[in-house]
Amino acid sequence: MLKAKPVKLAPSILTADFGHLADEIRAAEEGGADYIHLDIMDGTFVPNITFGPLVVEAVRQVTKLPLDVHLMIHDPERYVADFAKAGANNLTVQVEACLHLHSTVQKINELGCSASVALNPATSIETLREILPFIDMVLVMSVNPGFGGQKFIETSTSKLRRMRKLLDEFNPTCDLEVDGGISTHNIDDVVRCGANVIVLGSSVFNKQATVAENLAALRRAAES
Ligand code: DX5
Ligand code: ZN
Repeated sequence: MLKAKPVKLAPSILTADFGHLADEIRAAEEGGADYIHLDIMDGTFVPNITFGPLVVEAVRQVTKLPLDVHLMIHDPERYVADFAKAGANNLTVQVEACLHLHSTVQKINELGCSASVALNPATSIETLREILPFIDMVLVMSVNPGFGGQKFIETSTSKLRRMRKLLDEFNPTCDLEVDGGISTHNIDDVVRCGANVIVLGSSVFNKQATVAENLAALRRAAES
């Protein structure tokens, strides 16, 4: 891997307390989060439904952090303009959900957002080869998308290493994000494999400790 990129922590609000969402987001920002990760689910691409541009707009009002919007929806090109207008800074589409990925990425860039492409666990990194020069980040899913609190899929570490190698060859400045099942027990592994943007859901928003305590522990573990 070329010169190591600074590690960014991206708390996912999927497991946050939606009755006090503004407080949870402020706590993440004060706790040192770099991004806020928002999981958009349509009930067809994944077996769960979450929220749309309305919630992204509300979150936009309560934080200055970049909004990392993860679109787990079919044919996301239909909605990228709505999410950009709602205040998204990064838009991640699933490669499996896009019929015309190059034009979708082009549209995201025209909207002024950074463009990222996500791979489900069974999708090969080779599917991204032709799009790599045009994107700002790759998201490697380390769980099957749809829910927080799932177990990390162990083969994701080797996939991250191979993905980072491909990026160093075709787009060295591209960020590598990992999403799903990350905690203090494995964050150092995924960073060592080349991930530099880490999505953290249930390891940040839980009953065991405060958001600030969880983020501090994760930051320490990432730098260990
Ligand atoms: C799952 C989402 C993830 C999830 C991560 O489909 O894309 O962002 O919220 O939650 P944890 O960290 O609990 O696995
Ligand atoms: Zn996500």
